[in-house]
Amino acid sequence: MARITASVYTSHVPAIGVAMDLAKTTEDYWRPLFAGYEYSRAWLRQAPPDVVFLVYNDHATAFSLDLIPTFALGTAAAFPIADEGWGPRPVPPVEGHPELAAHIAQCVIQDDFDLTLANHLPVDHGLTVPLSLMCGERDPKRDRWPFRVIPLAVNVVLYPVPSGRRCLELGRAIRRAVESFDEDLNVQIWGTGGMSHQLQGARAGLINRAWDNAWLDRMIDDPEGCAAIPHVEYVREAGSEGIELVMWLIARGAMADCARPAGPRPRVVHRFYHVPASNTAVGHLILENTIA
Ligand code: DHB
Ligand code: FE
Repeated sequence: MARITASVYTSHVPAIGVAMDLAKTTEDYWRPLFAGYEYSRAWLRQAPPDVVFLVYNDHATAFSLDLIPTFALGTAAAFPIADEGWGPRPVPPVEGHPELAAHIAQCVIQDDFDLTLANHLPVDHGLTVPLSLMCGERDPKRDRWPFRVIPLAVNVVLYPVPSGRRCLELGRAIRRAVESFDEDLNVQIWGTGGMSHQLQGARAGLINRAWDNAWLDRMIDDPEGCAAIPHVEYVREAGSEGIELVMWLIARGAMADCARPAGPRPRVVHRFYHVPASNTAVGHLILENTIA
């Protein structure tokens, strides 16, 4: 059977992608940020998953105000790298896993979550920056990512956005779906976006280190309590784009201790927090399911 072995959480600031694409990662500004991902890259290399279920948000790239799905599951065989205005990032296209994605769609929709199915989904920095952060700078000799990716695009751009509670429950349903897929696959689930940032308006540049770190503590130790935090608290404390953090709760809900009946608590493999990256606080966490 397929199983979820670990969850990875990371911010997805576009300037981080630019730093990698333009070989600026060893500059003084960027070095401390990339140092925080060295351990993660080694960890991923020593036990690469077959599939990453990658929760991210589209930034008005594939979707516009014409059509705003709350949860859109990428069911295609491949996902093109989106052009966000400066040409597509110079990274390989993302290969999907249509069979597992179709199975997850079947299970999760029958489990009462109304997913939108996306058979064509250009993926933006929300998905590609976490891939590059975790897999490392591009090697021109390597024209593929080391695993397949099933994207889940979540609307956190236009209100109303889904609640933390809904996201945690969706993670639980995704876990049930993965665990009923009849093929021996190592699946990781990644949650991206955040941490505190606000890109526009009078509070642009807002960073709240204390709130971010308290939220991380709670997300790890008390996912139910974390899922009860209302949107207004994210926006007030972590800025208008801090609401991206609700997506981390989808990955958290897919961990063993959130299942019913509950499995063992996850092991914290790595935790990192850094300010600044552009106008954003960067948070990063790896949780591993321990074998029951
Ligand atoms: C920026 C954009 C994002 O989507 C994000 O999550 C953080 C920062 C930016 O434009 O700087
Ligand atoms: Fe974003």
